[in-house]
Amino acid sequence: MNTDPCTYIIFGATGNLARLKLMPGFYHLELEKKLPEGTRILAVGRRPWDRATWLAEVKTLLQEQANGPLDEAVFKRFSERLDYHRGDIDQPECYKTLAETLNAQPGFSRNMAFYLAIGPGDFGNVIESLSQVELLNEEYGWRRVVIEKPFGYDLESAQALQKRLSRYLSEDQIYRIDHYLGKGMVQNVLVFRFANVMLEPLWNRNYIDHVQITHSEELGIGNRGEYYDSAGAMRDMLQSHLLQLLTLVAMEPPVSMDAESLRDEKVKVLKSIRPIPKSAVHAHAFRGQYARGNIDGHKVGGYLEEANIPADSSTETYAAMKLLIDNWRWRGVPFYLRTGKRMAKGQSSISICFRHPPFQFFRDTHVQCMTPNWILLGIQPEECIRIEMTVKEPGLEMRTRTTSLDASFRNPDERRVDAYEDLLLDVMKGDRSLFLRFDEVEYAWRIVDPILQNWVTERDYIATYPAGSWGPEESRRLFEKEGQYWRSSLMPECQP
Ligand code: BG6
Repeated sequence: MNTDPCTYIIFGATGNLARLKLMPGFYHLELEKKLPEGTRILAVGRRPWDRATWLAEVKTLLQEQANGPLDEAVFKRFSERLDYHRGDIDQPECYKTLAETLNAQPGFSRNMAFYLAIGPGDFGNVIESLSQVELLNEEYGWRRVVIEKPFGYDLESAQALQKRLSRYLSEDQIYRIDHYLGKGMVQNVLVFRFANVMLEPLWNRNYIDHVQITHSEELGIGNRGEYYDSAGAMRDMLQSHLLQLLTLVAMEPPVSMDAESLRDEKVKVLKSIRPIPKSAVHAHAFRGQYARGNIDGHKVGGYLEEANIPADSSTETYAAMKLLIDNWRWRGVPFYLRTGKRMAKGQSSISICFRHPPFQFFRDTHVQCMTPNWILLGIQPEECIRIEMTVKEPGLEMRTRTTSLDASFRNPDERRVDAYEDLLLDVMKGDRSLFLRFDEVEYAWRIVDPILQNWVTERDYIATYPAGSWGPEESRRLFEKEGQYWRSSLMPECQP
């Protein structure tokens, strides 16, 4: 696939996402010489800056991230690509002058990618305004729009947003980003499943007892109080990133790795998830909010003490749910998903628990109870693929221990690529396989909507958990049977 030169126009360039992810992502692509000749990056921001101020700003933030000085030659090459456009996205003037700049200067490629690193409430207006000044017109080059999550607030608002966008854009111009799909280890889930034939016969209800997907963070909500309090963990992580991970674990092999085939299979999984009736929300979902506690030996405040959080907020900072997939492969295998802020440890992982052997051969020995096999996929910070097996302990007695086969894949000298680097490049290539099609977003909302609707009516109580713990104990009630428990470690562990 060719990587065309293009002009990236970043809306919200002075915000957190652009500073922490996008600009460093572009810079690393520069370091790796992956940016095609002629690529330019135009930052759009409200601040009264000029190009020189913006360059100084970018240099400082890159130095902060690199923890030291930059390679001057690379930064010089990079800075030649950078420009700053001062403008207020609420004002038509911003788009008029933007179009003049982009059209007048021959240095700007006619291929343009508009990256909306802005609040979701502004997506529709910005697209409409770009269209009014003809910047979405593909007559002289492609025009693509990258949209950050959340895409909508619930099913209805997502559909309304889609309807609005599709007045100005065709589906193949829209790149709905879910940065989890850009993570190396997440892509490795597909390779692990579909490039290793020995797994396929086991990857189904006959052998798998249940699947767990966990994303936990030590951090709290930081300075994102306003956004977070209106979103909560279910919208912020589960509806998007964790459901995407679930589709990769559960999907059928696609006919090819092209964008449509891959996304067709993911949608099939989402469609097969058994709808949760309102009456069953409590059996399928659990929410909690962090209270004061300790992280790494330091006292930290509770959610209600964070900036911009109303004192009576019942927004969840922890959400867990149990999903059942009604298809031939997965019928009867629960998928447990959980996420939380201010948890004991920051980590994302997929843990697949296998069934017990059908017969307890070692009943009259020291082997009281066989632990099941697990496949553990560590996504971050540790990237790993481990298969836990039971082996006999050396010695005269029949005792067993769990050992773990490690198929970790990164050599120590291999650089970890940030998810955004991959995705920024994919937009230039026109490869949408790691971006969400609207039907994926729509089905994901259908799954979580009944839960959210229920929670909104139960504002007077939310379970709490101490910061630095693994979340509310009561969330265990989601488990279907004895012996199922939240698996938090990627190392062999004893069942609690
Ligand atoms: C974002 C959420 O989409 O993902 C954040 O809005 C969350 O709340 C973040 O912290 C997690 O991403 P990562 O890549 O740090 O695991």
